[in-house]
Amino acid sequence: MTPVGIDGIEIWTGTLKLDLPGTLAPALGEEPAKFTKGLGLYASSLPDTYEDIVTMGANAAYALMDRHGLEPDDIGRIDVATESAFDNSKPVSTYIAGCLESVFDGDFHHANKGERKFACVAGTQSINDAYNWIRAGRNRGRAALVIATDTALYERGDGGELTQGAGAVAMLIDEDPSILALSQEQGYGSADETDFLKPNQQFPSVDGKRSIQVYLARMREAMADFEAQVGETHPDDYAYIPFHTPFPGMVRKAAPIGYRRMIRATEIEDDLAPSIGHQPRPEAFDDEAAFHDALAEYMDALVETDAYAAWYDRVIEPTLSLSREVGNWYTGSVHLARTSALLDAADRDVDLAGMQLLVASYGSGAQAEIHAETVRPSWREEIDALPVWSHIEARTSIDFPTYERIHDVHNHDIDTGADVDPVTVPNGEFVFTGWGRMNERQYEFVD
Ligand code: COA
Repeated sequence: MTPVGIDGIEIWTGTLKLDLPGTLAPALGEEPAKFTKGLGLYASSLPDTYEDIVTMGANAAYALMDRHGLEPDDIGRIDVATESAFDNSKPVSTYIAGCLESVFDGDFHHANKGERKFACVAGTQSINDAYNWIRAGRNRGRAALVIATDTALYERGDGGELTQGAGAVAMLIDEDPSILALSQEQGYGSADETDFLKPNQQFPSVDGKRSIQVYLARMREAMADFEAQVGETHPDDYAYIPFHTPFPGMVRKAAPIGYRRMIRATEIEDDLAPSIGHQPRPEAFDDEAAFHDALAEYMDALVETDAYAAWYDRVIEPTLSLSREVGNWYTGSVHLARTSALLDAADRDVDLAGMQLLVASYGSGAQAEIHAETVRPSWREEIDALPVWSHIEARTSIDFPTYERIHDVHNHDIDTGADVDPVTVPNGEFVFTGWGRMNERQYEFVD
């Protein structure tokens, strides 16, 4: 079977940078260490006045197509995953296609376009849709363009204000891909939950503490479902495990659950047993509470072991490097984690070809999805060509009053007027220019 997977990646960050320990923490009366040590965050990317989900998505897609020498005719499908849509009818992919048609010869009139919604897991779902479309033989030799784009802004004063971010990840899904081939097997953990939602409102209602618990519960289910397909997994099976990363501290909580499951009944569990005992098994307990207490005690001891620390440093920590600097990008977040891992391998000159990643996505509401990806021989060329760190380093830092002004500009309930000056000057990119006669948003490319 010809492999299908990720053939290209491009990342577009919001142009502004808010320093979290240095600027947001003192303004909100928070300890800087809450960001750096607790949440694991150093900065948020934020959108300037002329940026939104369309400009960031179109800029990422344009750069990706340009780098790959693609024309609109090469693309048979454009799917946008977002939690920040501003229209309940017209999909963001049509706006992005319109932007791209203004700079490329040709058009996307014979490409299928859509918008995917399931909180942060929608980006992964769009990749899966593209995979299924190609596997079904409906692509006519064309690739799919998947764009995960979000402005993850929260109401001022909301707990989520600490974990904001904005940016887009564009990915090309194709046969015989250059970077990663997707596994056919998938595991799901899905349930009707109320942890994060936007019922007809711009900013989310979020129960952050509950969301952490729901994330962990759905991940556990997805992992069990995945293992039911592929058999038992082992920590050595995966070079990296990129998780959905609303903030790196969340991944610090999720990783031990995966590790415990993977070492169960292996030589690693046996080697650790003299110091921390064997894993508690439910059948050895009369009631569930006693089992959970024993499990919590085991987990506390497990994360203190050298074996766990070495695995975490090798497999998990490198997936967090982009997230630490940009905050939560919702649908793009797990794709940033995967990219961070590949950048780490390139940086350390690791020969990753043939190795596997285990990709763990999550969307509130709630659903986790886990699948494996096999690194392709030509991965390095693609990753070396990705200018993501130079874009991140080129962001413009803003002070707290500027942050307040920018947040107001993006708040649909505040009329800041049409003439709020941007902080930066756009250059070679799509920008938002205002509203049209049917209240549609309008865009142009600025040279
Ligand atoms: N030094 C070191 N660590 C500190 C600290 C300090 N001075 N102050 C706090 N911390 C730690 C806390 O112990 C906690 O870590 P732990 O959970 O491992 O114990 C962490 O920093 C966060 O502190 P907490 O008090 O829980 O923060 P909070 O009540 O402000 O809430 C979130 C944090 C993440 C729940 C909140 O920002 C949020 O809801 N974000 C949105 C998340 C989201 O969108 N979820 C949905 C998508 S998955």
